[in-house]
Amino acid sequence: MSSTQAANAQYLADYRPYPFILDQTVLDFALSPDATEVTATLSLRPREAVEDLVLDGGRGVELLSLDIDGRAPDPAHVRRDGESLTIAAAALPDAPFALTTRVRIDPSANTAFEGLYISGGIFCTQCEAEGFRHITFYPDRPDVMAPFRVTIRSDKPVLLSNGNPVAIRDGFAEWNDPWPKPAYLFALVAGDLVAVSDRFTTRSGRRVDLNVWVRPGDQDRAGFAMQSLIKSMRWDEDVYGREYDLDVFNMVAVDDFNMGAMENKGLNIFNSKLVLASPETATDADYERIEAVIAHEYFHNWTGNRITCRDWFQLCLKEGLTVFRDQQFTADMRSAPVKRIEDVHTLRARQFREDQGPLAHPVRPERYEEINNFYTATVYEKGAELIGMLKRLVGDDGYASALDLYFDRHDGEAATIEDWLAVFQDATGRDLTQFKRWYTDAGTPHLTMTEDWDAGDRGGRLTLNFTQHTPPTPGQDDKPPRVIPIAVGLIGPNGDEVQPTRMLEMTEARQSFTFDGLGARPVVSALRGFSAPVILDRPIDDRNRAFLLAHDTDPFARWEAGRDLAMSALMSLAQGGDAGADFIDAIGRLAADRDADPAFRALCLMLPGEEEIATALAARGATPDPDAIHAAREDLARRVAEAHADLLARLYDAMEVPGPYSPDADAAARRSLRIAALGLLNRIDRGDRAEVLFGTAGNMTERMAALNCLIRRGRGQAALQALHDRFGDNRLVMDKWFSVQVMAAPPQDAVAVATQLAARRDFDWKNPNRFRALLGGLAANHAGFHAADGSGYDFTADWLMKMDGANPQIAARMSTAFETWPRYDKGRRDRALSALQRIAAMPDISRNLREMVSRMIA
Ligand code: PHE
Ligand code: ZN
Repeated sequence: MSSTQAANAQYLADYRPYPFILDQTVLDFALSPDATEVTATLSLRPREAVEDLVLDGGRGVELLSLDIDGRAPDPAHVRRDGESLTIAAAALPDAPFALTTRVRIDPSANTAFEGLYISGGIFCTQCEAEGFRHITFYPDRPDVMAPFRVTIRSDKPVLLSNGNPVAIRDGFAEWNDPWPKPAYLFALVAGDLVAVSDRFTTRSGRRVDLNVWVRPGDQDRAGFAMQSLIKSMRWDEDVYGREYDLDVFNMVAVDDFNMGAMENKGLNIFNSKLVLASPETATDADYERIEAVIAHEYFHNWTGNRITCRDWFQLCLKEGLTVFRDQQFTADMRSAPVKRIEDVHTLRARQFREDQGPLAHPVRPERYEEINNFYTATVYEKGAELIGMLKRLVGDDGYASALDLYFDRHDGEAATIEDWLAVFQDATGRDLTQFKRWYTDAGTPHLTMTEDWDAGDRGGRLTLNFTQHTPPTPGQDDKPPRVIPIAVGLIGPNGDEVQPTRMLEMTEARQSFTFDGLGARPVVSALRGFSAPVILDRPIDDRNRAFLLAHDTDPFARWEAGRDLAMSALMSLAQGGDAGADFIDAIGRLAADRDADPAFRALCLMLPGEEEIATALAARGATPDPDAIHAAREDLARRVAEAHADLLARLYDAMEVPGPYSPDADAAARRSLRIAALGLLNRIDRGDRAEVLFGTAGNMTERMAALNCLIRRGRGQAALQALHDRFGDNRLVMDKWFSVQVMAAPPQDAVAVATQLAARRDFDWKNPNRFRALLGGLAANHAGFHAADGSGYDFTADWLMKMDGANPQIAARMSTAFETWPRYDKGRRDRALSALQRIAAMPDISRNLREMVSRMIA
């Protein structure tokens, strides 16, 4: 490390293999809420010459004893600091040896939910990224892999760990995981749990016992999770040829969990909101997300577990690929075009936003202080986009053979992005040197496109001229051009496609492509399927946008044309101009188009969100005004509702789904169109429809939609009370109850509503879901969070500071509410900055939050 670099930072360039090889890990847990004893025996041998042995181990780990091959070393050779334990080389044999430690930890005091903790009486673990070091002393890095044998002693009835069960009896369980794995994939669960069980036979005939473990009473909400698991197992065999490799697969739901879920080998642990679902308590969106996350965690068994990451800089190697795979899965299970639109929508809302501000970082970062701060939209969602681009560039067959080679070559290894790209180069012969910039360079490229038309004598020629430019991001000023796949199609004046999708490969800063032999000047459908994660700028008028919305054969491009039209109407309204009759006409025609998928029509009816509008404005160099954006969006929604009142009312009635609730894609699609119509009608019917729907809805999707509408009309009180009366003891429903009130509040009331809710006894702020419901709800109320008086900033800062003392990961993650602050006006900037400075000055601030805040104010 050079002296100019921060003392706490880790650098990709500093990688060096661990000097010891770990052949086997044996763990014994004697569980007790405040004094759990962990005995670890590590079979180690020096990789080359013997060096000092450094084991990670945090402050909460009390060392009771340590021996090497059964003998305690001279205490002078053992050194302990706050983060590690070092045994001097002089105390180590120059041959294989067994290191045994006995430690004591206190799960009941663990409010950070990292390592071993207790959630609702259930012992459980979370070890990614560096949680294992809070359990025992260990080389806690992903490139140190070993088979694990685990024994658990506890009076809890269900005792689980990774791998296959060896012996299970009262108060005791032994598990063996034969597949070498890094410590971050270790898991242990002990509790009073019941299972929904099933069985799966892999295509080579291995029989696998499947269990979804939940708290007694929750079994009736676990069936959908089991079905999702079975679908995922079959899909990974069918599409990627990947089979499951143990005799059992266990999933557990816990209420306190920092993230969504975790892919521990053979023992996936989930945030209960991503497992438990019934029509009465979960929305269609919840069902879709549960299916996707269960698939995601299951897919990690090959992309993440069998092949893991060499170091945490390579996080996107497993996450980008696994997100890409779960996106493919959902596209196959449901509507592929709708899924693509949803994914692009989230990418823009979260990743473009991140890329635009002070937290921008490459998909493969080169430095971090706290790795937990890099589980980001850039690593996950942009990481997945890069894989989609690779697939577009090498074709489906090239992709398939590259993936086969990847699994063949790296199974059982801890790999890098270089390994990943090498597999594509070797399988397809394609040079990916330039493509690699997508991994190393942060920022969203801006692409411009202009057209030249030459009518000619023998057929017309269309020339498309592109330029690319990526704005500077922290620490990266100049960005050389990247390879950008641009999918283009051409639509003739009569609406027929005259040029089916062609993949243009842009590699230069400016580059032109021509299309010859055209009859008449076509309309260009560009960046079809969102073929690259870029911002496309092109001079196109509303008439041609409406034309594409009506005629484009590519569903994404069609939706995008509608989006552009809406944006242009909003811009015009925000500047005191007209509403854009083109948009209102076109959207009406689309909503009425019975041939189109209802889910697609619903997506088109949804106006861009306020955050999205702000991000789009900032990308064009404008300063977004949250109040003006809010007003313009409300105005446009009302105009759409007024212009299409009859049509929307007909749709609302027609899209009612008869019969018992089913979460399948078709029924969900109809409900989504019905709810989109309701949201617009709600602006002109005083909330009457919503009131009726709230009283009669037989499912949570419509009930929540109705509640949202009622709150927006200022008449939510009775409905809120009714929901509370009925579901007050259901944590997941109450999370929705908290968040909807803040999210749907009029901006000027949002902070007051949040303040009131935060004072309630059932605001159990240490529960990450509850905290996120409230603070995330406020952050999602764009004009409320960005209140001009800074009250949203102050409220959020106060709570982040409080949360930091209990759970630094959650505090750091939620601090991203501030990540866009530099794009606003001076008044807001000053207030946001002083809130951030207040956080930065906090004594005992965690490394997590400190790194986030200092990046944001740098
Ligand atoms: N690896 C998990 C996933 O993407 C996410 C996670 C990260 C969970 C860190 C917990 C802690 O599936
Ligand atoms: Zn993942």
